[in-house]
Amino acid sequence: MNKAQLDYILKVRVPVTIFVIITSFVITYYVSRPERDSIGYSPEQPIPFSHKLHAGQMNIDCQYCHTTVTKSRFASIPPVSTCMNCHTVARKNRPAIIQLTEIYQKNIPLKWKRVHKLADFAYFNHSVHVNRGIDCAECHGDVRNMDVIKQVSSFTMASCLDCHRNAQLKLTYISNVKKGPENCFACHR
Ligand code: HEC
Ligand code: HEC
Ligand code: HEC
Ligand code: HEC
Ligand code: HEC
Repeated sequence: MNKAQLDYILKVRVPVTIFVIITSFVITYYVSRPERDSIGYSPEQPIPFSHKLHAGQMNIDCQYCHTTVTKSRFASIPPVSTCMNCHTVARKNRPAIIQLTEIYQKNIPLKWKRVHKLADFAYFNHSVHVNRGIDCAECHGDVRNMDVIKQVSSFTMASCLDCHRNAQLKLTYISNVKKGPENCFACHR
C-alpha cells in the first residue's frame, strides 16, 4: 500500500464508514423507539375525542369517565352512554357527534385504540397507586393538555423500580408514602 492509498483510506473511507454507521444507528434508534418503549405512541381514534377539551377546559374529573381506578386493576374506558349524558344536547349537530349518536343508537361498541399496554407477564394495579394518592400525571403526563392521548412515560421494569425505590423523593406531595415493592413476585405473579 502506498502513501496515496493510505491517505485515501484515512481521509475518506474511514470517516465515511463511521458517518454511515453513526447515522444508521441514530435513525434506527429513533425510528424503532415507539416499538421499543412505546413513548410517543399516539394513535388516531375513531372519534376525535379530546381530553384537552373535556378534562382540561371543561375540567371534567378523570373518574367521571374512568370509574374503576380506585376499585380495580384496570382503568375502565367509558361506554358511549356516558358521552350521551351530555351529547344528546351538546354539539349534537356536529359530524363527530352525529357519528357518536349513531353508534349509540345502533348499540355497536366504539372500538377505541388502546394506547398503553404492558406485556402479559407484568402485573400492574391502578387502585393500589391511585388510592395511595399518586396523580395520574405521574405516569400518563399532562393529559389535560392532550387533544390526542399520547404515551409519555416508558413502562419498562427499570422505570417502575425507579419510582418504587425512590417513592419518598418522587412523591413529596404524599405524606408517609411507603416504598413500592422490589421483589419479583409483586409484579410477575
Ligand atoms: C369525558 C370522559 C373522559 C374524561 C373526563 C377523561 N377521559 Fe381519559 N379517556 C376517555 C376515553 C373515551 C378514552 C379512549 C379514547 C382515547 O384514548 O382518547 C380515554 C383514554 C384515556 C387514556 C388512554 C387509555 C389507553 O388506551 O391506554 C388515559 C391514560 C386517560 N384516558 C387518562 C385520563 C386522565 C388522566 C383524565 C383526567 C385528567 C381523563 N382521562 C379524563 C374518556 C375520558
Ligand atoms: C403508577 C403509574 C400509573 C398511574 C398513577 C396511573 N396509571 Fe393508568 N396506566 C398505567 C399502566 C402501567 C397502564 C398499562 C396497564 C396494563 O397494560 O396492564 C395504564 C393504563 C391505563 C388505561 C388503559 C386501560 C388499562 O387499565 O390498561 C387508562 C384508561 C388509564 N391508565 C387511566 C388512568 C387514570 C385516569 C389514572 C389516574 C386516576 C391513572 N391511569 C393512573 C400506569 C399508571
Ligand atoms: C359533561 C358533559 C360531556 C361529556 C360527559 C362528554 N362531552 Fe363531549 N363535549 C361536551 C361539550 C359541552 C362540548 C363542546 C365544547 C366546546 O366546543 O366548547 C363537547 C365537545 C365534544 C366533541 C367536539 C365536537 C365538535 O366537533 O365541536 C367531541 C368529538 C366530543 N365532545 C366527544 C365526546 C365523547 C366521545 C364523549 C364520551 C367519551 C364525550 N364527548 C363526553 C360535553 C361533554
Ligand atoms: C410514581 C411512582 C410509581 C410508579 C411509576 C410505579 N409505582 Fe408501583 N407503587 C408505588 C408505590 C408508592 C407503591 C406502594 C403503595 C403502598 O403500598 O402504599 C406501589 C405499589 C405497587 C405494587 C404493589 C401492589 C400490591 O398489590 O400490593 C405493584 C404490584 C406495583 N406497584 C407495580 C408497579 C408497576 C408494574 C409499575 C410500572 C408499570 C409501577 N408499579 C410504577 C409507586 C409507583
Ligand atoms: C415494580 C414492578 C416489577 C418488579 C418488582 C420486577 N419487575 Fe420484571 N418487569 C416489570 C415490567 C413492567 C416489565 C416490562 C414489561 C413490558 O415490557 O411490557 C418487566 C420485565 C421483565 C423481564 C423481561 C425482560 C425485560 O427487561 O423487559 C424479566 C426477565 C423480568 N422482568 C424479571 C424480573 C425479576 C427476576 C425480578 C426480581 C428481581 C423482577 N422482574 C422484578 C416489572 C417488575
